[in-house]
Order: sequence, then structure tokens, then C-alpha cells
Amino acid sequence: MKLEFTLNGRATDWEGAPVTRLAAALRDDLGLTGTKIGCDAGDCGACTVLLDGRQVCSCLVAMGQVEGRSVETVEGLSAADDSLSALQQSFLDHGAAQCGICTPGMLMAAQELVRRNGKPSRAEVEEALGGVLCRCTGYGKIVDAVMDVVAPAPATAPPAGEAIGSRIVRVDGPPKVTGRDVFGADGIPKDALWIRVVRSPHARAQFDLGDLEPLRRRLTAVLTAADVPFNGYGIYPDIKDQPVLADGLVRYRGEAVVALVGARAEVLAIGDDEVPITWRLEPPLFGVDAAMAEDAPLVQADRPGNLLLKGGVKRGDAAAAFEECAAVAEGTFETAFVEHAYIEPEAGWARRVGDRIEIHATTQTPYMDRDEIANLMRLKPEAVRIVPTACGGGFGGKLDLSVQPLLAIAAWTLGRPVAMVYTRPESMAASTKRHPARVSARFGCDAEGKLLSCDVTALFDTGAYASWGPTVANRVPVHAMGPYAIPNVRTWGEAFFTNGPPAGAFRGFGVPQAAIAHEAMMDELAGRLGIDRLEFRHRNALRAGDTTATGQTLAHSAGLAECLDALRPHWRKAHEEIAAFNEAGGPHRRGIGIGCMWYGIGNTSMSNPSRMRLGLSPGGTLTLYSGALDIGQGSNTIMVQIAADAVGLPAAQVDLVTGDTDLTADAGKTSASRQTFVSGKAAEKAGQDLRQQILRLANAGPEAILSLDGATLSVRDGGEVRTIDLATAGPLMGEGTFDPPTTPLDSDGQGVPYATYAFAAQLAKVEVDIELGTVKVLRIVAAHDVGRAINPTLVEGQIHGGVAQGLGLALMEEYLPGRTENLHDYLIPTVGDVPAIECLLIEDREPLGPSGAKGIGEPALVPTAPAILGAVHHATGVRAHRVPLLPHRLREAIVAQQRSKA
Ligand code: FES
Ligand code: FES
Repeated sequence: MKLEFTLNGRATDWEGAPVTRLAAALRDDLGLTGTKIGCDAGDCGACTVLLDGRQVCSCLVAMGQVEGRSVETVEGLSAADDSLSALQQSFLDHGAAQCGICTPGMLMAAQELVRRNGKPSRAEVEEALGGVLCRCTGYGKIVDAVMDVVAPAPATAPPAGEAIGSRIVRVDGPPKVTGRDVFGADGIPKDALWIRVVRSPHARAQFDLGDLEPLRRRLTAVLTAADVPFNGYGIYPDIKDQPVLADGLVRYRGEAVVALVGARAEVLAIGDDEVPITWRLEPPLFGVDAAMAEDAPLVQADRPGNLLLKGGVKRGDAAAAFEECAAVAEGTFETAFVEHAYIEPEAGWARRVGDRIEIHATTQTPYMDRDEIANLMRLKPEAVRIVPTACGGGFGGKLDLSVQPLLAIAAWTLGRPVAMVYTRPESMAASTKRHPARVSARFGCDAEGKLLSCDVTALFDTGAYASWGPTVANRVPVHAMGPYAIPNVRTWGEAFFTNGPPAGAFRGFGVPQAAIAHEAMMDELAGRLGIDRLEFRHRNALRAGDTTATGQTLAHSAGLAECLDALRPHWRKAHEEIAAFNEAGGPHRRGIGIGCMWYGIGNTSMSNPSRMRLGLSPGGTLTLYSGALDIGQGSNTIMVQIAADAVGLPAAQVDLVTGDTDLTADAGKTSASRQTFVSGKAAEKAGQDLRQQILRLANAGPEAILSLDGATLSVRDGGEVRTIDLATAGPLMGEGTFDPPTTPLDSDGQGVPYATYAFAAQLAKVEVDIELGTVKVLRIVAAHDVGRAINPTLVEGQIHGGVAQGLGLALMEEYLPGRTENLHDYLIPTVGDVPAIECLLIEDREPLGPSGAKGIGEPALVPTAPAILGAVHHATGVRAHRVPLLPHRLREAIVAQQRSKA
């Protein structure tokens, strides 16, 4: 069918099947990849465009419906001279785009609104954006950007030496608001072959492959386990337990079995039932109880008892100290598998370039990908080049390999570019999850409320493969006593293999699960002694000079007490408000809760260095070569701010090269909230190194002021100005490396697991419908000790996004294999679910960090669920022991409580 329509104001012809989805036609036929596809099912809104001026999900519109109509996409928002529209500029100025994958859809939904209402109310904005999901921002800055569109905040361009602490806009922001950012599915060469993976519908089964020759004749290739040079990968050098393609045995639903390679339409047309696989089902093991049972079959043959790892921390004598306690609280708390639900499904492409393989894919960790692919392919690491695309959200889920191995194998073998894009259900079935946990906690204190003892055991379901399970099992015992000074501690963690999806890294590495338990215990103890919950925590807060349960003395920067001080007025005011509300009676009850946390920045007791380079070319281009991947959190901007101030030139003069393993040094993975602290320090050192070289060339003192104008570098030292002609001086390159000082933990968990810790306290105010069991979070106040806020807008953005994910953890999100593998059955917070969030930034400087900075990515999430659950208890008297606290669970508990009182 041939049809004509108007696209961004221009008459456009298109030819194809009328059932073709508008999103596909825009992206694949018309080259407008600004429109994103997050689900292809009408659930996420990433594909939102305007059709005759009204927002629609373009994945649900057939091209046959477009004839004669007007379509507007994000590419049409900018003016002809490429200048940004007021709406785009407002998104940029407000920090409304983090990873940017939802941004085009958000912009188009907002565009419809602001075109008819230039000064919309908050409620109108929330209604307009209600169909577009964002997993990064918590929506607050997006809503602000739309409300302020007529008067965007002026962009700031700080002078030399003043970048740190300023709210400069993202250095990588413009492509995010114009739709030009290239995500994993956006840059695929036209001639690329396509891979579709056939996955196991069973959680545990043996299988035989039948005759694949008929399929091989239809397609370019059919790959099986036999085609993988070394068929095992995993995060740890000594645990390569996950096959790229299963070899006769599957251990979880969604495991890859066969890869079909050919023309895109051909591989997508082949049904799973056309691939000859004979299954022999075995009863799956679900949950840690099944895994621990004496007669449990083994998920991994070489793992007796299905145990992945165990370990703990021991200090003092916890058992004896409980005897001395005036109050003891205990409880067991369970959490579910939680899905990352980044809006960008895994995607990328690869090609063979001579004797090297080049992979362009969405990732959080280019160098780990490089080394892992080299291992799988039996190549040298130098033969692998990873070119990260823009990453449409990761949250830990893109630390594990996804599309990369099969892309590499197919492109290497076939000598042609090969692409792969996960569908949403495939992304959800195949990828890692947050570890389900069962945390049993016992805490005791004296009559004055001073904590004396704690005993915590955390059991984790690590699913079918190890992934980051050891990291979780190691990190949790160190954090399980919470951010409190407790002289007697016993904590213990164990992780078990099951036939659930592999549980991996997810924003917090198990600490959010543990925090639900230790914060409930703080509330219980405070309640028993009649001490205010905030004051109880303040009394016990770890402070500088205190010694932790691992025997580490916190020399500096332990700002929990300051966070609580900042929260106190909000806490008191909220109490007054809810007392007045609850006095009125009725089915709605309000409550407030508080959650505290601490979080060790970087790897646990392991080296995790970062290396950065800052170069000045003969032409006068100042370039930061950063291997630290920005997955939306803003590290590109943070690194530029730090490096600029360190060298002494304006941030606006710094160009950025990021991620490509051929062009940048290894800055480690984007995880463990480490990039600002670790890579930021490396960037600072690189800037200082370059500055020293410049000062030496100019024979100038340390206070000299630099200015760069083309190839001329001026150095003002006192009253004297010296100029350096860079064209003759040659290229200069500063380099910096930082590896946080830690020590291994001994068998009692004693040592220095982290060089520094972030601290936080959050307050949640909720309203519970007693009759329905629903919880509405009304407000969050988040006080975070970040050491130093390098860019307050980005820090706030991290807090907002972390709070939204914490809200989902507390109240909404539960991944059930085979049942919630899409974004209409698996619910994540929408703009209507996330309340107003007030951020209070505490800057207790960490001397090791760049300008005193620590980290914020994971700390933002950890205290939210405890605060919300504490507020629900305050409102209803129900203590949640199973999370998420879905309405039916809360209603059941309320009814049980009412019965027991009757
Ligand atoms: S891609 Fe269309 S709604 Fe998700
Ligand atoms: S910025 Fe919205 S999904 Fe990442």
C-alpha cells in the first residue's frame, strides 16, 4: 500500500503493509529513530508521537490509519536552524532527561498539553504524562520542566574553577531532547543480519535438539551451544557458570537455547514451535526453602546444598549482650524478585573488522564486557572493541552480558554485521533481577535506647546462575546492622541457587532488602521504650570517630546525625498534620515513617580502580577521555566538572570522549555508586596532572590562572602573562588513577570493606485506605550526606529516581516468571504514583573523594521502602513482613488485626 501523510510538517510518501506499526515505519523506513520502542505493546509510552495533534502510542497505530493525517515526532520539535524549542530547553535546564530513552515520548506528550495550555497546573501535567513511563527520574523534574516551559531557568556556564557545585546542564543533554542520542537499537546498519533467540518456556528441563538442517537452509545460520567457543560466563573470574546457549539443560524460564540468524523478517517469522526441541521436564526448585531441603536436586552440579556463598561479620558477643538488653525486637522480612524495567530493552549490533570484533551495545561496563567476550570467543582482549551506545537505563541490570555474546559469535563467524534487539517480554524473562531475600533480625538496646546487640541472618535466592550473587551475599552482612553504632554484632548471609531467574545487581546489592529489616527493628525498639523514632536513630547514629562492626574506624564524613537534624522540623510538622487528619476519622488513615541507611561506596574489599585522561591537542581542544559510562545518572557531566576545575579551565571548554574501549582507559563499571567517588577522583588527578604539565611549561606557580583560546594557552601568574603555543608545544596528556583503599575481610568479617560510606535518612508520609488496603505516598523528604554535591541538580535527580524505585519495591513490584513479563502486569510507578520529593543535601566532606564527594546512586533508594513501610505501620499498626505490600496483603493484615482486637 502507498500512502501520503504529513510528517513534521512535510508531505511524506510511504509504502508498505497497512498493518505496519507507525513506530516501526518511523524508525525503520523513515529513519526517525527519535521515537523509541520500549514495549511495542502500548504500555510504556516511549513511542508517543502526535497524530493530528493528539498523543498516541505509535506502536499501536497501523500505518493504514495514518493516511492523510499529520504525524509529529521529537525530530519536529527543534526549529529549522536546530535551535531547541522552549519545551526542549526547559527539559534540559531542569535536568528532566536522565538516560533519555523516555524523553522523546515525554516531550511529545507534554507538547500536546503546552500547545493548548502554556501554563498548566501540576495536575494537568501529571494527567498529560500519565501514559509515559520513566524509570530514572521519579518524574519530578519532568513535571517541573513542563510547568515552567514558558520561563525556563537560565542555563549556567560557570567560569574556570567554579564548575563543582554548580547546576550546569548535562553535557550530553542536547541529543537526549532532540531524539538524536543513539541507543542500542538506533544505530543498526541497514545490511545487518538479525538474531532471534529461542528461549526455554520451562524453569527446569533437559532437552534434545532435533534436525536443524531445514531451518539452516531457510536462514543464514542456526547457532547452538556447539557454536560457542567457551560456553560459560559470569561476573567472577572463577565462576563462569552461565552458558550463552544452554547445552541440553535449562535452569530457568527464559534461558537461551537456540539462536536463529538471518534477514530480520525471516527470523522474526519463525515460531518457537518450528524449532525442533524435545523437552524432558523436571520439577523446578523455587525459593530458598526448596533449595535448602536435604533431598533438593542440585541446580548446579558442583554446588552442594545449592549454596553459592556464605559469610558474615562478628564483633563482640551478640548472644550474651542480648541478656543485658532492656528491650529486644525481632522479626523476619521477605522480599520478591524485582525487575529493573529499564525502558530500553537490551539491544545492539556487532561487526567483524579484520581480526577484531566490534560490539556496539547498551551496557554499564565496557571493559568487563570486553574481557568477558574475549574469554567466550577465546580471543585476546585487544581483539575486542566495545563501543557503548547510549544506555537507556541500567540500574545494575546491564552489568551482565545480554546481546553481546551472540552478536559477537554470529558477526565473527559470518563476517557480516549482525543485530539483536530484545522484545520487552524477552528482556524481562532473560535478564537478572533483585535477589529475593528472607532477613531475620534481632536487635536489642538498653533502657536509654542505646543499641547493644544485633543478630541478622539474610538468605538470598540467587536464581539459576551466580551473576552478582557473591557481591550481594558479601555486602549485606557488612550493612545489615544499619548505620548505627552497635558494640555486639553477628550478621550472616547465604545465597542459594534455585530455578528462578538469575538474580544479579540491582541498585543496592541486597542492602535495600536488609534495610527493611533493620529499620523495622528501630521502630519497634523506639516504640517499646516510648522514644521518638527519629530521636532513637539519632541517639545511635554512626558518627565520625566511631568503629563499625567490621572494626573500621570512620575517620571522616559520617553525616547521618546531620541528616536527621535536617529532617527533624519536617518530621515534627508532619506529625502535627497527620494527627489533625486522623482525628477526623473515616476509612483513610495517615502515617509517617522514617528510614535510615548507610552504603559503602565501591566494591567490597576489592580493588576497583579507575583511570582517566585529560588531553590538550595542538589545536587547543581539551578532551576528557572517560571510560566511566553514563547510564543516565550524569557521570559524563560530573567528570567534566571535576576535570575542568582540576585543570583550571571552564567546563564548557571540555570535550568528552566516553566509553569506547579503544579510546578510553578502564574506569571500571558503573555500579556500587562508585563513579563520582572513584572515577571522579581519577578525573581530578588527571586534571591536576595536566595542570602541572602546563605550569611547568610556563614556569608558573600553583596559583596561576589559565585561559584557552584556540591553540593559544595563556598562563597568568601574578602580574605576568605567559602564552604557550600549543601547536609547537605538542599534545599534552594528563592522567589520573584512583583505587579506593580497602582491606580484605577476615573470617569474622573484620577489615576495611569500603573507603567511605554514604549516609541518609528519609521521611515518608502516606495515606492508607483501610477498606481497600491501598497506600498513597503523599510526600518524601530525603536528607542525604553526599560528601559534596558536584552538581546538585543531578544529585536531586538521583534521589528522585531512587525514591521512585524504592516506592515500587515497597508497594508495587513483584516479578513472577511467566506471569509478569510485560509492563502491564508488572507495574512500576507512574507519574501519578510518585509524590513530591524534597531533597536536603548534607555535605560532610570525604577527604578521599573529589572535592569531598562520595556517591548517591544506590543510597537514594535504600531508605525509601523502610520509611514507607514504617509510615504504613504508623497509620494502621500493621508491620509488613512481606514486600511488596500489595493492597490484598495489607487488607488481609488489617482484617486479621481487627479480628484479633475484636
Ligand atoms: S513502545 Fe509503544 S507503548 Fe511502549
Ligand atoms: S530518563 Fe526516563 S527512563 Fe531514563
